[in-house]
Amino acid sequence: MSIWVILLAGGQGTRLKSPTPKVFLPLAGRPVASHSFSLFSSHPEIEGIAVVTPPSYASLFEGALIASPGAERQDSIANAFPLIPPSTSWVLIHDAARPFLTRHDLDLLLAEGKATGAAALAHPVTPTIKEALPDGTVVKTLDRSKLWEIYTPQLLSYSLLQKGLEKLRAEKLSVTDDISLAELLGHPSKLVRGSPSNWKITYPEDLFKAELQCAIS
Ligand code: C5P
Repeated sequence: MSIWVILLAGGQGTRLKSPTPKVFLPLAGRPVASHSFSLFSSHPEIEGIAVVTPPSYASLFEGALIASPGAERQDSIANAFPLIPPSTSWVLIHDAARPFLTRHDLDLLLAEGKATGAAALAHPVTPTIKEALPDGTVVKTLDRSKLWEIYTPQLLSYSLLQKGLEKLRAEKLSVTDDISLAELLGHPSKLVRGSPSNWKITYPEDLFKAELQCAIS
């Protein structure tokens, strides 16, 4: 059962307000994106990695196939997908902005996700979350005990990913994560509880927190 990875390092990271995209800023002495790339590269079950990156950073990803970034995250995935051999069984999609993915969580996702065909690492949310109108008027308070924050990697069978990307293109839909493709196709998907340490670097202060996390782990 062959597995390929699409590693997404094609964003501008505009919220980080840095001229260098966030995934190429240094973390513990190497670019943020290199952390998860090393984990995938050394995994015995992973056959290949397609990295979405600006061409100027391609040399960081030795042995990987390289795709160009698209306008949105889902366009970057669509650019990388044709690089994956159609004989592939499973595709893992990962945000390079999550450098703290562990081998343990990756193996858990593979072990528990394959039975469903679509699965994502996730963690129950801790804050109270309300739905509101654009002017701030509260519509309702969501039941926190049922809400999960969705992480990456997300695991999809090759055929689900192919069909999902086709549907997005044909119907001009937009999604913010990958198992949403399974949902759009009416296929079940599963959340696999992962460590909250697998958070996404987004804001400038996140880099300090990330350095601290590297130092203590
Ligand atoms: O912007 P955001 O943090 O949601 O991006 C998540 C991941 O997707 C990042 O690793 C980013 O580099 C990648 N991305 C991409 N192509 C885009 C937008 C984001 O590869 N057009």
